[in-house]
Amino acid sequence: MVMAEIKNKNQAYLDMDDKYVNPVLARSARIVAERASGSYIYDMNGDAYLDLGTGIAVNSVGHCHPKVVAAAKAQLDLLMHTSVTVHHQRYIELAKKLVEIAPSKKLDSVFLTNSGAEAVEGAIKMARYVTGRPVVINFRGSFHGRTIFTTALTTSKLYYREKYEPLPGSIYTVPFPYAYRSHFRNDPDKCVEETFKEIEVLFHQFVHPDQVACFIVEPIQGEGGYVIPPNGFLPRLRKLADKHGIMLIIDEVQTGFARTGKMFAIEHEGVEPDIMLMAKAMAGGLPLAGFISKSEHSHKWPAGRHGSTFGGNPVSCAAALATIGVIEEEKLCERAHKTGEMMMKRLREFAKGKDYIGEIRGRGLMIGIEFNDKDGNPSKELCDKVAERSLEQKMIVLTCGVGGQVIRLIPPLNISDADAEKALEILEKSMKF
Ligand SMILES: Cc1ncc(COP(=O)(O)O)c(C=O)c1O
Repeated sequence: MVMAEIKNKNQAYLDMDDKYVNPVLARSARIVAERASGSYIYDMNGDAYLDLGTGIAVNSVGHCHPKVVAAAKAQLDLLMHTSVTVHHQRYIELAKKLVEIAPSKKLDSVFLTNSGAEAVEGAIKMARYVTGRPVVINFRGSFHGRTIFTTALTTSKLYYREKYEPLPGSIYTVPFPYAYRSHFRNDPDKCVEETFKEIEVLFHQFVHPDQVACFIVEPIQGEGGYVIPPNGFLPRLRKLADKHGIMLIIDEVQTGFARTGKMFAIEHEGVEPDIMLMAKAMAGGLPLAGFISKSEHSHKWPAGRHGSTFGGNPVSCAAALATIGVIEEEKLCERAHKTGEMMMKRLREFAKGKDYIGEIRGRGLMIGIEFNDKDGNPSKELCDKVAERSLEQKMIVLTCGVGGQVIRLIPPLNISDADAEKALEILEKSMKF
């Protein structure tokens, strides 16, 4: 009787959601979260779900980390909002900290925003303003957000763009070196070569490089399928950008803050961005994003040419300082690397002899499992089945990929060994076909 009442409470909220919330807001699981802690979300029935989705790579230090919560609570009592009326202490402290942990000493100038898409927009505005050039080059399969300009930059799935035309122009899209789904599955260098040939065609027949403000690229494609570009691609892109005076914008919205086993994924490549975008995991669950650039560029962007009412909110900044503190204290780069290696090793072992598991790839705790149908084409069907079966066993996993064919594993970076083990057991059960 009591259980039935609780279940009714859960269902009652879903019914209200169906009635009052704009249906465009798709959720992966029909679970109404009441609270969350560490690696678990608790629904209104009191049921616990092991969370391998972390609000799309946001709750990287675990849900409601006590140090992040304490920092946000303390800040609430002191100062909640200033916008651009005055300076505030936490913004300045966070900017200093971000400069300290940035992947290059030259990245020394910070601008804070509310969301990843807003960070992309600001960075593009800055690149255009500073270079005096209009054109942006992006990559096939990329995801950069849902505002109109970032929709135009997003090509990971048709449904992000369909019926939103006309989209902003002066954007040229070239192939991303996705070796597994290219003609060069076993020759990633050739796949990289193809990308640069396409860029040459672009420069020769479509747009002169002296009109190009920036390249924008994810160091590992997220929504596009957890695709790691072959070695050498990003360094070569950096060289090409330098040759033509083009800025290189690295989108670390999903990959940043220890997710891949380094503070930022670009550190795996030894490449220096001109502008680096950050969001998601930055404030441990509170909304905060931004970009870091070189002061030699940002000092050519005069005061007042860009701004934000809520960007760099004091409570979010306090939470971000605490989150970065937790990443350092709990050594989460090392932990992500170690747990990620363990999980990938075991998954690869499981995948042996199973043709429907095409590839297991990842860095740190950003792991993708790509599924094939019997003809070797991307299989959304199998992928959805795995997500569905996992949910039945009370574990949340998300999917991604241009065909919806990739399971993405993005657990909290401090997931316990026991929970990582439990996650693997649930996955193995769910991936038997
Ligand atoms: C790589 C990347 N860039 C930008 C965005 C947009 O961020 P937001 O949803 O905070 O606007 C996302 C969101 O998933 C992303 O993964």
